[in-house]
Amino acid sequence: PDATTSTPVAKVSQYACQRRTTTANSNKIFTDAFEVLAESYEFNEMEGQSLAFRRAASVLRSLPSKIQSLRDAESLPFLGKHSIAVIEEILQCGFSMEVQKILSNERFKTLKLFMSVFGVGLKTAEKWYRKGLLSFTRGLFPTGFLHYGDISRAVSKAEAQALGNIIDETVHAITSDALLTLTGGFRRGKDFGHDVDFIVTTPEMGKEEHLLTAVIESLKHQGLILYCDYRASTFDMSRLPNHKFDAMDHFAKCFLILRLDGSRVEGGLCGAEGDGRGWRAVRVDLVSPPMKQYAFTLLGWTGSKQFERDLRRFAQKERHMLLDNHALYDKTKRELLAATTEQDIFAHLGLQYIEPCQRNA
Ligand code: GTP
Ligand code: MN
Ligand code: MN
Repeated sequence: PDATTSTPVAKVSQYACQRRTTTANSNKIFTDAFEVLAESYEFNEMEGQSLAFRRAASVLRSLPSKIQSLRDAESLPFLGKHSIAVIEEILQCGFSMEVQKILSNERFKTLKLFMSVFGVGLKTAEKWYRKGLLSFTRGLFPTGFLHYGDISRAVSKAEAQALGNIIDETVHAITSDALLTLTGGFRRGKDFGHDVDFIVTTPEMGKEEHLLTAVIESLKHQGLILYCDYRASTFDMSRLPNHKFDAMDHFAKCFLILRLDGSRVEGGLCGAEGDGRGWRAVRVDLVSPPMKQYAFTLLGWTGSKQFERDLRRFAQKERHMLLDNHALYDKTKRELLAATTEQDIFAHLGLQYIEPCQRNA
């Protein structure tokens, strides 16, 4: 064998849905910096630049090892002049001046807090910021603010498991054949999350929305609901495939803040026990699609956000198909493609199946 022949480096796809990205990120030092830049651009409504940094971060997360030199980075998709310059700076001095500056910026810090903790959009966050931190009174803010300390604290896997047990008991006391599935970051194998996401449905056609409201009622009776933002279904199958395919779905859902008792958590709560309360507040999302849309919802809510974006982009650009949380539409054949599992959807798209734990793009 020819000793000068080096192992060919596998070409990195420009689509996250053609990459396998686990939680073991070898390039965290770079991707953390890129995420800050992406957020900063987002806060300044420069969507193009923001997306560019999110894509660059996603590509780096998929690499099996840490970037050691600029040459490692130059041939990768989505790594443009700006991101290469940031990598160069970090390789040389361990940090990026530009990122440091953003992190100490008051407007950035405040908008980030409002958007991540209270879940409001840029417009509302900006309005609050302009009103000024000095007029920061409880009356101005949604209920989430009351539990701000707990909600800004990460949720552990054990806490997610405990919540899963509580909701499982609640759901099955209502309907024995109900289906409860953990989704979001915890399904992707993350150890911590900002919330816990579940899909709740039933094989009984048309009963899923009723199930969700019954679950909320029961949680209320158990004294577990601290906050509930319920959104009724606006899903209309007869409008498929004519409705606009987008990231947000139309299924019945609720954004909750639940009370979690330490006694339910194996190994106890992380952090909140210290102040003697013995419980903490946790953000929980529940979504209830009809069983027929279950696979699409599972794929859509498992994330990561970048993985979802690239699945839709791949479907559109490479397959002339439209994918969202409700359906997959083949624009060439002019028909909806049915699926009962995630594997079915990957197969329709002509993609190799990617396990949830490999979707941390
Ligand atoms: P952490 O919660 O921070 O651990 O990460 P995560 O990946 O679980 O994020 P998040 O809970 O925000 O969202 C999980 C997935 O559900 C993502 O892929 C989102 O795109 C999707 N998702 C979240 N909220 C909504 C929503 O209101 N509508 C729709 N259609 N999708 C949502
Ligand atoms: Mn989540
Ligand atoms: Mn969520």
